[in-house]
Amino acid sequence: MRKIHFDEIDSTNAYLERNYMNFPDLTVVSADVQTAGRGRLNREWNSGKGGLWFSILFRNPELSPATLQRICSIVSVEVLMRLTEKREFGLKWPNDIYYRDRKISGCLQKNIFSGGESACIVGTGININNEIPAELSGKGISLKQIAGKAFNCSEILDTILIDVERGLVDYDENEFLNRYRDYSIIRPGSEVTVKRFEDERIMTGKVLEHPIDEIRLFIEDEEVVYRAGDITLKDW
Ligand code: BTN
Repeated sequence: MRKIHFDEIDSTNAYLERNYMNFPDLTVVSADVQTAGRGRLNREWNSGKGGLWFSILFRNPELSPATLQRICSIVSVEVLMRLTEKREFGLKWPNDIYYRDRKISGCLQKNIFSGGESACIVGTGININNEIPAELSGKGISLKQIAGKAFNCSEILDTILIDVERGLVDYDENEFLNRYRDYSIIRPGSEVTVKRFEDERIMTGKVLEHPIDEIRLFIEDEEVVYRAGDITLKDW
């Protein structure tokens, strides 16, 4: 993979969105600091020094954007487990990584279709040595807090990229789905709270089934299917 690193940039995703046409497939952009990092739903993504902020460009990918994003998240979970020798990391649908009840990483994907070409940008943010801002304490956590020591972000990035490339070669859908299920913290029977996009109504229910790209819930005596939304596990 071709790597480009910035000391500071607005957002590695936004940079690739503006410039993807000048770079080959599998270009990776990382930065020490993002001044305008973004998360899902255009939320601010706190991206101070010490964290790992990077985006991978896929040009005309054969795999779907959801699959590419999933590969990146699964690989990140496994790398975090290996680095800490702890198993209490999990994926929260769609692509958040949690350590116990706190978020350590998020993934954001952008698809572009232009002039008969398609591009997919998958951006990952992992709290490594960065300070978790006071307003997120109790919600966010860093690898340094978990392991009690600092890590080298660029080594972690290299490890993730090697594993992502490995996942792309001879991609095996079933194998990745099994890995996703192994790490998913939302399982049939989990009690969850869901904030509906349309009207922001908050509802509580039980997960009936969690196929990879949706969640079937039982809410107020009826079955509801979620394909996008904000889901929180109730007993956290
Ligand atoms: C989320 O959980 O809401 C997704 C967070 C994604 C953050 C990463 S950091 C690198 C890339 N650049 C961004 O502006 N966002 C993504």
